[in-house]
Amino acid sequence: MKDRVLSGMQPSGYLHLGNLVGALQNWVRIQDTYDCFYFIADWHALTSNYAHPELISEYSKDLLLNFLAAGLDPQKCTIFLQSQVLMHAELHLLLSMITPLGWLERVPTYKEKQAEIRDKDLHTYGFLGYPVLQAADILVYKAKYVPVGIDQVPHLEFTREIARRFNFLYETEALVEPEALLTEFRKVVGLDGRKMSKSYDNAIYLADPPAVVEQKIKTMLTDPARKRRTDKGDPDLSPVYQLHKVFSSGDEQEFVAQQCRTAGFGCIDCKKILIKNVFALLEPLWERRAKFLNSPDELKGILEAGNEKAREAAGETMETIRSAMRFSQTI
Ligand code: TRP
Repeated sequence: MKDRVLSGMQPSGYLHLGNLVGALQNWVRIQDTYDCFYFIADWHALTSNYAHPELISEYSKDLLLNFLAAGLDPQKCTIFLQSQVLMHAELHLLLSMITPLGWLERVPTYKEKQAEIRDKDLHTYGFLGYPVLQAADILVYKAKYVPVGIDQVPHLEFTREIARRFNFLYETEALVEPEALLTEFRKVVGLDGRKMSKSYDNAIYLADPPAVVEQKIKTMLTDPARKRRTDKGDPDLSPVYQLHKVFSSGDEQEFVAQQCRTAGFGCIDCKKILIKNVFALLEPLWERRAKFLNSPDELKGILEAGNEKAREAAGETMETIRSAMRFSQTI
């Protein structure tokens, strides 16, 4: 029996290269090793996007397409949509009863996001309860490992504490404390040199057609001091070089850095190498994406089969949870 892994992504925007390298590639890499459950966290997106639910279904579809395009194989892992597995909501409710408010107020993302996101009112019950929903996601599958980035560690710690509290209160071992599988951190900068993010409008999206990807890279900033072709540049000041560090081979990185420092070639030559490498990475994704776009029934079937498998696994856990709380039969 393989260990169970669970992870989710919020459909809060179109998926970009940073998400691919930061998370999705890692999901693909481990799908043979573990019994993986991967899901679209559409209820989580609702905690901050409740005013625009229509966007959530649009982004959810993009996520599903990209999961498959990136190489998640429904024969190997279970792919599902959170809102189609109602046990997440049931467990969220039950866990909310035993969650001390202080624990929620102490989760760092709570105040950070409230301060950072100014265009939405995040003073809601649902938003405060975000970590409870995430804990329910994880615990309802008895997941042993949760592949996430470092920013999610407080949510994992919260999940462990809730599991412990539940098991203690109801004298049970129904809930399993999960561990984070920390994703190796490879920083992908955006077109302007800041972190690649949909909110900075500096991203290369996985849904961008090849011509758009090429155009975006061609118009990227480089070392601002290198104005003329004959000026020598400093690769460390160029976002293009930062992307070479992620997408180009060691030899190519050395080559472009050297050419930049000596004005051996121009920025367009440097970008051409980057474009070639990004294309090589994305071409198989584009192909699979197009294939699934052309067969919506297959796409639907994959999701429905995944939802059903998820319901089965979650249903089993819910039985032990209900019985631990003496809710297993009618009165
Ligand atoms: N909070 C996660 C994020 O923003 C998404 C998420 C929701 C998640 N539920 C989860 C991740 C359960 C791992 C496990 O990235």
